[in-house]
Amino acid sequence: MKITVVGAGAVGASCAEYIAIKNFASEVVLLDIKEGYAEGKAMDLMQTASLNGFDTKITGTTGDYSKTANSHIAVITSGIPRKPGMTREELIGINAGIVKTVSENLLKHSPEAILIVVSNPMDTMTYLVHKTTNLPKHKIIGMGGALDSARFKYRLAEALGAPISDVDGMVIGGHSDTGMVPLIGHAARNSVKVSEFLSKDRMQQVVEDTKVGGATLTKLLGTSAWYAPGAAVSSLVQAIACDQKKMFPCSTFLDGEYGLNDICIGVPVILGKNGIEKVVAIDLSDAEKAKMKESAEGVSKTNALLQL
Ligand code: 2OP
Repeated sequence: MKITVVGAGAVGASCAEYIAIKNFASEVVLLDIKEGYAEGKAMDLMQTASLNGFDTKITGTTGDYSKTANSHIAVITSGIPRKPGMTREELIGINAGIVKTVSENLLKHSPEAILIVVSNPMDTMTYLVHKTTNLPKHKIIGMGGALDSARFKYRLAEALGAPISDVDGMVIGGHSDTGMVPLIGHAARNSVKVSEFLSKDRMQQVVEDTKVGGATLTKLLGTSAWYAPGAAVSSLVQAIACDQKKMFPCSTFLDGEYGLNDICIGVPVILGKNGIEKVVAIDLSDAEKAKMKESAEGVSKTNALLQL
């Protein structure tokens, strides 16, 4: 199983590292435009192989897409990350051009690849890939919900004073500070709804902290986060590579599901060897439906800024 990660910045490199550590892929190719950078990251990571006990071969290339040929899965992390105070939407001008070129180059050499889009604004970049390539929709996956759900679980565990392994929760909707819809009404500690343990105010705080999860880190770090984004991508890659049929919220092109059309936005899907194998319909409360609608309106507004 060959996997390409475009962009050897912090997110791309973390993603390659977690894929390697999980030891399910034969090869990871890191590609970056900065001279020698991907080669350097790949070499550094390979020198952890004997220490971390993986056999995945990681190589790097400066912009040579022929080295990515016949990849099964390609992850697009390239583009500029946000700085403190910026929204993900403000990145659209620069990142749209980059994501379009990168996806075209990838597909030239790996026409069968499944693409995972990470670059921001992620739902709009996923939509752009959908509109500008001929790939079927099940092969275009936007990574946001897996990350936002991991941040939701972190905040739930914090509020409950529980280990994270006790906690379950999911975030759907757009991957933006205002668009995320953390499904607090469905969140549980070992099957018991969190509303049995937490006050309404505390639950609302968990929701708010989750929605600004990325912005909080950007403020602390001076740039956007990478460990959790990298780990989230690696989980999606593993689910596809190992045909796990796992359920994650991912941004996918909707054609009537959840009452939405002509949009890529986060909903629960099943990931297996074919990419998105199913969009899972779950019962939402009226309040959750309204939040999802509002979120979709926000994503559509950003999509309208694309020059397609
Ligand atoms: C984040 O939320 C990079 O969008 C990503 O950290």
